[in-house]
Amino acid sequence: MKKLISLLLVLALCLSVVSCFAEGAAKKVGIAMPTKSLERWNRDGAYLQEQFEAAGYVVELRYSDNDIEQQNNDIQGLIADDVDLLIITAIDSDSLSVTLEDAKAKGIMVIAYDRLINNTDALSYYVSFDNYTVGVLQGAFVKDTLDLDNAEGPFNIEFTAGDPADTNAGYFFNGAFDTLKPYIDAGKLVIVSGKTTFAQVATPAWSTDTALTNMQNTLASYYSDGTILDVALCSNDSTALGVAQAITSDYAGGNAPIVTGQDGDIANLRNIVDGIQTMTVYKNVAEEAAVTLEVAMAILAGQTPDAGLLESLSAEAAFDTETYDNGVFVVPSYLLVPYVITADNLQKLVDIGLYQWDAEQKYLEAK
Ligand code: BGC
Repeated sequence: MKKLISLLLVLALCLSVVSCFAEGAAKKVGIAMPTKSLERWNRDGAYLQEQFEAAGYVVELRYSDNDIEQQNNDIQGLIADDVDLLIITAIDSDSLSVTLEDAKAKGIMVIAYDRLINNTDALSYYVSFDNYTVGVLQGAFVKDTLDLDNAEGPFNIEFTAGDPADTNAGYFFNGAFDTLKPYIDAGKLVIVSGKTTFAQVATPAWSTDTALTNMQNTLASYYSDGTILDVALCSNDSTALGVAQAITSDYAGGNAPIVTGQDGDIANLRNIVDGIQTMTVYKNVAEEAAVTLEVAMAILAGQTPDAGLLESLSAEAAFDTETYDNGVFVVPSYLLVPYVITADNLQKLVDIGLYQWDAEQKYLEAK
């Protein structure tokens, strides 16, 4: 009899485990990424899909070709497919609020991934990196490399910022500009073109081609007389790619200007080895996906995660309830920590397990 009871207990336990698992497996997650044309979003999409599937979720992943209308339609499609949760990287931070009303009406929770979504209360959480710090790291790199506190200068600098439709772009620019402003004000750093505001240096859609053309124009207008360009401060790698190309083809000076970036895209890591780009701010998007999964599991289980969520995770991150006001409320945010990569510490990317050296041990490639 005792044996029978324990057998029944074991059976009951098994059944509940199975049904729990089945319930978990039935949960569907819709992921909306901006575009395949930028390397990093391919990596983000792949890591998110892989990690959510490994945790037993069904994943629907959509890329919307950097087209705002298409992203709204894609998200509508995910809502119609009855996903339980949406993970969205907005193409335009201001254009999703109407679509997200439909998600809210159906009880679908939303996590803003990497980019904030404005003017909506349908959001639960924001998972990103400390975006202002990305810019600070770029500015501090320039300050240290030129030894601005001691060197006489003056040095010439030009800025290239990101997409005005992306809330992150302003944070990146401000972080870099605020860090360098004391030296600009003191005349030690000179913006020869006079393009000092975000609006003047923004790059719609973070386009490499636009960054290339803008830099060619700046070089033609202000540097063709032999004026030396010391720094091209670029907010990310896609713009740095265009700017570096413009410098290679159109810059008359003999020096190699400092070129900053962000993301660690493979083409940019090559440029760093070749001395065409100087640094990139690296953001481990596999960890960004891991934090997102953790937040997703918690909110799907009806919890309201806070700083405690990070305790069990290896990713270095902070819980922030002050910075990201989306116009309706301050969105609770998990912000991971970015760091600087140069030609001297590329091995760090191999050590984190996401990259490997190519056959010649010269360039990095994705693993
Ligand atoms: C991301 C950057 C990326 C940029 C362009 C930003 O929102 O945070 O990592 O370089 O978009 O895709």
